[in-house]
Amino acid sequence: MRRLTSILMLLTAVMTVQAEDTPLIGNVLNRQTTSLNGDWHYLVDVQECGYYGYRREKLSYGFFRNAKPQQPEDLIEYDFDKAETMPIPSDWNTRDQRLFFYEGTVWFHRSFNYQPKAGHRTLLYFGAVNYEAIVFVNGQEAGRHVGGFTPFNYDVTNLLKAGENFVTVKVDNKRSRENVPTLIFDWWNYGGITRDVLLVDVPQTYIGNYSLQLDRRNPKQLNFSLQLSAKEANRQVTLSIPELKIKQMLTTDANGHVSTSLKVKKLQLWSPEVPKRYGVSLTLGPTDSDASDMVSDSIGFRTIETRGKQLLLNGQPIFLRGISIHEEKPNGGGRANGPEDAHTLLSWAKELGCNFVRLAHYPHHEYMVREAERMGLMVWSEIPVYWTIAWTDDDTFANASRQLNDMIRRDQNRCNVIIWSIANETPHGKERDTFLSRLSRQAHDTDSTRLVSMAMEVLAASNYHNKLQDNMNEYVDVISFNQYIGWYRDVKDAAKMTWEIPYDKPVIVSEFGGGAKYGLHGAKNQRWTEEFQENLYRENTAMLDKIDGLAGTTPWILKDFRSPRRLLTGVQDYYNRKGLFSDQGQKKKAFYVLKEWYEGKK
Ligand code: GCU
Repeated sequence: MRRLTSILMLLTAVMTVQAEDTPLIGNVLNRQTTSLNGDWHYLVDVQECGYYGYRREKLSYGFFRNAKPQQPEDLIEYDFDKAETMPIPSDWNTRDQRLFFYEGTVWFHRSFNYQPKAGHRTLLYFGAVNYEAIVFVNGQEAGRHVGGFTPFNYDVTNLLKAGENFVTVKVDNKRSRENVPTLIFDWWNYGGITRDVLLVDVPQTYIGNYSLQLDRRNPKQLNFSLQLSAKEANRQVTLSIPELKIKQMLTTDANGHVSTSLKVKKLQLWSPEVPKRYGVSLTLGPTDSDASDMVSDSIGFRTIETRGKQLLLNGQPIFLRGISIHEEKPNGGGRANGPEDAHTLLSWAKELGCNFVRLAHYPHHEYMVREAERMGLMVWSEIPVYWTIAWTDDDTFANASRQLNDMIRRDQNRCNVIIWSIANETPHGKERDTFLSRLSRQAHDTDSTRLVSMAMEVLAASNYHNKLQDNMNEYVDVISFNQYIGWYRDVKDAAKMTWEIPYDKPVIVSEFGGGAKYGLHGAKNQRWTEEFQENLYRENTAMLDKIDGLAGTTPWILKDFRSPRRLLTGVQDYYNRKGLFSDQGQKKKAFYVLKEWYEGKK
């Protein structure tokens, strides 16, 4: 065994070629890609023996080598080709019953035939992997990523070969104090390769990312900027928006960057009533040694701003008729991961009379955001800085900061995204304030066209008077808070409550609600009955109408969702039952109370 190990170590040492960690490519869904979705083999590796040796030393000949016995006496103790498969994207918890509660390492592996184009690059793109992903191509490490809800990609041009290739991913969803989210959270810790896996074919230098937005101060001006994948000067970039008769030629500077402002006369602004988007195409001209690149998109234009306690969309006051949503399949549990899931969940929100959705508590998949834009639903998008994060840990901050950056970079051209949320229900304190104020500044610096918020809390009333006080008020554009009168507190007192939000900013009640088991009926003071939840909504909506500056709400929550913190047998059974829809998509009585209230807000 020892002699075999040293031979294999020798062998592998000479072959190590690193892939480059590559900035997130923009708008991958409209690019030339090869999907690697489909059946992948998987091995459950509880003790990570495919990655570490028995002294916990990293192995150079681990499972990622996909080794096969060469001689009859060779000892190889894994074989992906014989292993079970599961469809990717998905989560292992609902794909393999044995893994329902599993938190740990699972190896995923698939082979694929690929013919790299001469002079081109190939990126390997993941929509999301929860939580830690170590990616190998043909046995070589391409890169490592943490964070379960944002995309990442690697340039694997040097790792691929013409013909048969294989990709192996070590996925681990173990929770830890330093992670983002941290150890405890009220949703299921679905593990796996939960979103699309794509090979992206691009020229040597390609369009890295770009932004096209309506100027916040001048609704007759579009601001455009584009960054190439390399610092290459004098490259021709063409921006065209045929419907607006715009065709603009631009030349990159020494950093491979262009930016300009365009005057536009007649522009149909995007709104929930008229979710207008314009066809846009971007072309990077060829050079003698490099091919051209092209990407198209559908982009809408709108302004979103605040004026005192008012929220203004396209200069007009608006009330956000919202609902909170977790990224779970409409029926039963499991991560939602496609346009169909998105359309169904968002259609339920539309049925409620919504014009706004809070995608909680992490960036949902791109299909969800794009479908909401197409359907006329504004979006609150959030990073999972949830409850008590390790505020003083630099790696934790770097992780949160990267997730914020990737969330913005992925959806910066989605005009329906109006609010970036940097946190949910975080405890007051100096370290927390420092951590969050840095994130708030980052969000504002990265994107000056949207609003920044976070879900604060009002946990108690004194003498029925609820006053929100939070140092973070000065770092957010919209004051949002969660309150659970009628469920976690003051069950009978909603009608007596008064509210004070001492900040001259719009107010969103980002959570309120209570649980009900679908089909369970009884007196309105009987917990878990639909009548209890119905009454709670009736009383809360009447109470919220008394809040000065209320500009919107996103009740908790559209649909019952899986949570390891909900164990009441026969009622919760590992579901948080605060949905207005059951886990099977059945409407509860409270659904109609909220629908009626929103009718009055139109
Ligand atoms: C919190 C939290 C949610 C949670 C909800 C609940 O406010 O933000 O993630 O699910 O309360 O208790 O149901």
